[in-house]
Amino acid sequence: MVGKARLNPPWHLQSNMIHKRVFGAMPNGEAVTAFTLSNSRGCEVEILTLGAVIRRWLAPTAERQDIVLGLDTVTEYLNDPNYFGAVVGRYANRIGQGRFKLNGRTFQLAQNQAEHCLHGGKQGFNRKNWQVEKIDHDSNAITLTLESSQGDEGFPGNLTISTRYRLSDENCLRIEYRAMSDQDTLFNPTQHSYFNLAGHNSGDITKHRIQLDADQFTPADETGLPTGEVLLVASTPFDLRRSVKIIDVLKADHIQLTQAKGLDHNFCLNGYVPGNKTPVAIAKIAKPEVGLSMQVRTTMPGAQVYTGNFIGNSFAGKDGAIYSNHQGLCIETQFYPDAPNKPHFPSARLTAKQPFYSVTEYQLSTTDE
Ligand code: GLA
Repeated sequence: MVGKARLNPPWHLQSNMIHKRVFGAMPNGEAVTAFTLSNSRGCEVEILTLGAVIRRWLAPTAERQDIVLGLDTVTEYLNDPNYFGAVVGRYANRIGQGRFKLNGRTFQLAQNQAEHCLHGGKQGFNRKNWQVEKIDHDSNAITLTLESSQGDEGFPGNLTISTRYRLSDENCLRIEYRAMSDQDTLFNPTQHSYFNLAGHNSGDITKHRIQLDADQFTPADETGLPTGEVLLVASTPFDLRRSVKIIDVLKADHIQLTQAKGLDHNFCLNGYVPGNKTPVAIAKIAKPEVGLSMQVRTTMPGAQVYTGNFIGNSFAGKDGAIYSNHQGLCIETQFYPDAPNKPHFPSARLTAKQPFYSVTEYQLSTTDE
C-alpha cells in the first residue's frame, strides 16, 4: 500500500469529487439541487437540477476565474430571458411561426419570440426541474433526466431525455444527450452557456479570439429566422475559419451583423457526419491575456454563435455582477434553426422508439499545458 501511494503524484490526493447542496426551491416547494463536479486541476463545474443549468465554472488557472455567466436564485433562473447556462429544448433555436408538418400532420407550438417558437417555447426544458438519475463518483459524472409529455408546448410524443455531464481530469466537460419518444417527433437539445474566459465579471468578450470550421452559414431575417439560404462564408465577416478577434467581426459592415446586433447565426459545420457518435473539433475560443482557451467538439451539424447581443446594459448577474451586451459568448451546438420547415437542412426528426444520442465537449486548455 505504501509503495503504491508513493507512485501517485501529489495532486492525486485531491482527486475528482462530486459535492451536493440545496440551491433553492421551485414554486411548488420541490428542492433544486446544485452539484459541483471538481477535478484535481482545480477546475470546478456547478450544475443545477433546474434547467440542467451550468451555473459556475471555475477555470484550472491560478486565479480560478468563473468563466460562465449565471444567476443567484431559482426565481431569477425561472425569469431569465437569456437562457444562461441552460439545456434548451425540445427544439433549440427557432421554428418559424411555431409550426411544422410531420407525417402529413400540422403541429402548432407555443410562440414566444416574434411569431416563432424559440428554445422549446414558453416553458422549455430550461424552466423544468430535472430529476437526478445517477451520480457516478467513479467517472465524475452526473446524469439528469426529464419527462416531457405528449403535447408539451405543442410537440408530439412522450419524450424521455437525459443529459450527462462528466468533468475529466483533462479539464474537458463532456455533455451527452440521450432521448426516446413513443411517437415520431422533433428533438434538438443544446447547451446555452455564455463563456467569458477572463471571468464572468470582467467586461465584454470582444477581445476573445474565435476560430470555427464552417465554410457556410445560414443568414437570418430580422426576426432571427433563417431565410433558407446557405451562403459561403468566404469573403464575408462570417469567415471564422482562421482565428479572428471578435471585435473585428462585430465592427464589420454587413447587414446580417447590423440586423442581429452582432453574431447570432447558425454555422454549417464542415466536420458533420450523420450518425457519428464521436465528437469532432469545430471551434476554439481563446483569451491569450489570461492564458486560457477552449476547444468545442460535437456530433451535431450546426452551431449558433451568439455574442450576447440582447443581454441589455445593466442585467443583474450572480455574485453582484452587472452584465452588459457582449459580456458572454455562446457556441450552441444544434440542428439548424427551422430545419423542420427547411427540407434541405439536416433533419431534426426523431423516429418513434429510436434512441437519440449526441455529444458536445468543451475542453479547456491553459497555455502552459
Ligand atoms: C439564442 C438566440 C438569440 C437569443 C438567445 C437568448 O442564441 O438565437 O436570438 O434568443 O438565444 O436570448
